[in-house]
Amino acid sequence: MIMQRYIHGVGMTKFGIEDISAPDLAREAIVQALKGSSMSPNDIDAIVLSNADTKLSPERQRDLTPMLASILKRKLPIVRIPAVCGGGGAAMWSALKLKYNNILVIAVEKIASTSTQMITKEIMHASDNFHEQDEGLIFPAVNAMVAQAHMLKFGTTHDDLALISYKNHHHGSLNPKARFYRKNISLDTIKNAPIICSPFTLYDCSISVNGAAAAIISNDRSDIKVKGSSLAADYLAPFERDELTTWTGTVKSGKEAFQQADLNPSDINVAELHDAFSIVELLAYEDLGFCKKGEGKNFIRDGHPNLDGKVPINTSGGLKARGHPISPTGMAQIVEIADQLRGRCGDRQVTNPKYGLAHNIGGAGGTTTCHILQKW
Ligand SMILES: CC(C)(COP(=O)(O)OP(=O)(O)OC[C@H]1O[C@@H](n2cnc3c(N)ncnc32)[C@H](O)[C@@H]1OP(=O)(O)O)[C@@H](O)C(=O)NCCC(=O)NCCS
Repeated sequence: MIMQRYIHGVGMTKFGIEDISAPDLAREAIVQALKGSSMSPNDIDAIVLSNADTKLSPERQRDLTPMLASILKRKLPIVRIPAVCGGGGAAMWSALKLKYNNILVIAVEKIASTSTQMITKEIMHASDNFHEQDEGLIFPAVNAMVAQAHMLKFGTTHDDLALISYKNHHHGSLNPKARFYRKNISLDTIKNAPIICSPFTLYDCSISVNGAAAAIISNDRSDIKVKGSSLAADYLAPFERDELTTWTGTVKSGKEAFQQADLNPSDINVAELHDAFSIVELLAYEDLGFCKKGEGKNFIRDGHPNLDGKVPINTSGGLKARGHPISPTGMAQIVEIADQLRGRCGDRQVTNPKYGLAHNIGGAGGTTTCHILQKW
């Protein structure tokens, strides 16, 4: 049972490739979150920060923790939680355990100012360096193998995966903070895009961006309750697991969050799922229980995760079209769910959602968090 917590203000920058420094990105998200909470920096009791310990930041600002003290002009307890792509969710989960009243949770990253090769090398820290990477198993390759296994076992096709990318690009085209805002990508373009790693084409992969996202959590009541918060770990490398097509971190964290919230997957009205690659979103449909194992293909074919479907998924555009700045992804999911529950999502608004779920993964299923929020 978690201590009852509430979400106050949230904030995020546009996710993109603009040359804005990490401290400036952080400041923008924090100012929005404070404003949305009607709070000043003096009201904050502690800060939980997530950012990857990367060499990529052109400012070479590897320790952003004291930087936040400078931004807020407050000498507060500040702790950093790195969990690569799952950092934002892990920061939220950790903050919910702390016994402070008003806690600022912030994730920030500036990674997109360097080459794909450099980014690929850096984010390989999130996976198995010893066995996998010597064999060339960088992230797109590991996830492509998972997709191949799912196709062989359950008859999923690349056309099914293309529907996921198409949906997320459509949602992202409606989100002013998304990397691909106002850029509609046709299904034909997606299907005929260059192969990155078979069966993946360009549009099966998320895109790396810069950005920051923040939320203020509190014991004081607001209109959004945290109903569930869970974190589960799995073995680092998929080859160590019993099978490739079920990610037990997602299964375990989903079950725990639903149990805490006393809800079922069918109660969820809107969800942000970790679509680092199209297959990862499809696995999450199954592993979280939105449909049965092997039926993710029917779930997307029937349009259930579309904006007008029974559980709209990745209304922000997801990692695919909003963009994936590593640590901020999990916090951007919280921002999207809070905004959806508050009816602030404009053209991509879901009709009167009550319960929303955020699912964030670090590595290829290594660290997984789930958060369930309720509008009340
Ligand atoms: C797919 C990938 C390899 C493409 O990188 P790339 O070939 O170096 O592409 P570039 O950065 O040179 O971009 C070329 C064009 O493709 C676009 N593009 C790049 N990646 C894209 C993606 N994933 N989806 C859609 N478009 C993309 C760029 O916007 C650019 O378009 P423009 O010419 O109109 O400006 C790269 O996006 C990638 O590695 N993605 C996965 C990231 C990852 O593994 N994250 C961790 C997940 S756990």
